[in-house]
Amino acid sequence: MTRKKVLKLRRECFGGTIFDITSGRRAYVDRTEFERIKCHRGLDAHLMAELGMNGSIDVTTPAWIPDFNFSAPDTVFFEVTRACNLRCSHCLNASGVRSMDELTQKQRLSMIDDLAETGVQEIRFTGGEPMILDGLGELLARATALNLRTSMGTNAVLATEKNVHRFARFLHMAIVSIDGMEDRHDSIRGRGAFRRTMAGMENFLSYSIKVRVNTVIMRSGIHDTVALAEHLYNRGIPLFVRRLVPSGRATDMLSEVLNKEEYEQVCVQLKPYLADPRGLTQGHYLNERALETRIRLPFRRSSCSAGHRGMVTLPNGNMQTCGFLGSLGEPSVGKVPDESLATIWKRLLVSNHIASLEDNLAIHNQYSTGPSTNCLAIALSSRICTPP
Ligand SMILES: C[S@@+](CC[C@H](N)C(=O)[O-])C[C@H]1O[C@@H](n2cnc3c(N)ncnc32)[C@H](O)[C@@H]1O
Ligand code: SF4
Repeated sequence: MTRKKVLKLRRECFGGTIFDITSGRRAYVDRTEFERIKCHRGLDAHLMAELGMNGSIDVTTPAWIPDFNFSAPDTVFFEVTRACNLRCSHCLNASGVRSMDELTQKQRLSMIDDLAETGVQEIRFTGGEPMILDGLGELLARATALNLRTSMGTNAVLATEKNVHRFARFLHMAIVSIDGMEDRHDSIRGRGAFRRTMAGMENFLSYSIKVRVNTVIMRSGIHDTVALAEHLYNRGIPLFVRRLVPSGRATDMLSEVLNKEEYEQVCVQLKPYLADPRGLTQGHYLNERALETRIRLPFRRSSCSAGHRGMVTLPNGNMQTCGFLGSLGEPSVGKVPDESLATIWKRLLVSNHIASLEDNLAIHNQYSTGPSTNCLAIALSSRICTPP
């Protein structure tokens, strides 16, 4: 399917963030480059070659440009509903039944308009299960019309050919959850889920929607994670191995959280796939590299995106800095669409909200049996849960 090639350019204190909505790639440009791109409404040949990007330019100039962070979150993870067709044993937000106070469709649409105006570049539709929501197609279409990248985290059970056909034009990427090979996946997600998820994944691929698989690694399922990595690698499908966060229905699953030595063993077992230059296999703690940005930024770009590059909207419009932090009791930082995201972003950045969450990191990294981390949710969870 051919889609319009659009590059989003957002003004920042250091110049700008440029984002290719088709590939999802992002780069930072300095002030001179920002002005040149804005003025010519496109990249010159030199930048095109260097960044590997081209397309028409859509410029956003947020009203408030902080000098110590980005001027808007890059991605908003929109949990459109708490309803779900599955009841996974590890579900971070204990999804299943729709909440009574979920946003109306009109409020969801108005929120999407506001995100685009604020300078957000991507909306990740998630939940609960986003495909269970009747109005999902309309939300995807609105985000696409506003030149936002659209992605969706899904169990793909409902991704029948007919359903995928309905919104294929409006979806850039599906992130499909698979938690092991058939028996293991079904023991976590319910009988028959694996086959339907695999069929759903094929339907996305057949409509040229990019697919990445997310899997959650657990102590009792290490062998399965390795088998899944091999299976997907052989098919050329990207895999991201996520750590288990003890929140929601996983609150009591501390014994499933891997320790440092177990992560090291997993790295050894995954070595051939992690070493592949295409970067098909990625994961928390597996192949971390120091982050290099094209130009030097005047602030620290953390690998944890919470409240720094990412925000989460819960089904009732409450804003959190991360879905896991929200499930772990983080106080909400605002509510959309009653307030604009720009108002919430400014209030968050000038507060000590993130700094107080960061205080947990040093304690976690000193005492935990797990690998050292920047993840604010892991740090908070170890403050409120007793390690095994
Ligand atoms: C909450 S689900 C929502 C989207 C969709 N229903 C799905 O399962 O993909 C989003 C992602 O979080 C992952 N997840 C759920 N519980 C988790 C936990 N306790 N720790 C880490 N990841 C978790 C899921 O496997 C999935 O990849
Ligand atoms: S992980 Fe996803 S599919 Fe499973 S219960 Fe939670 S929201 Fe539903």
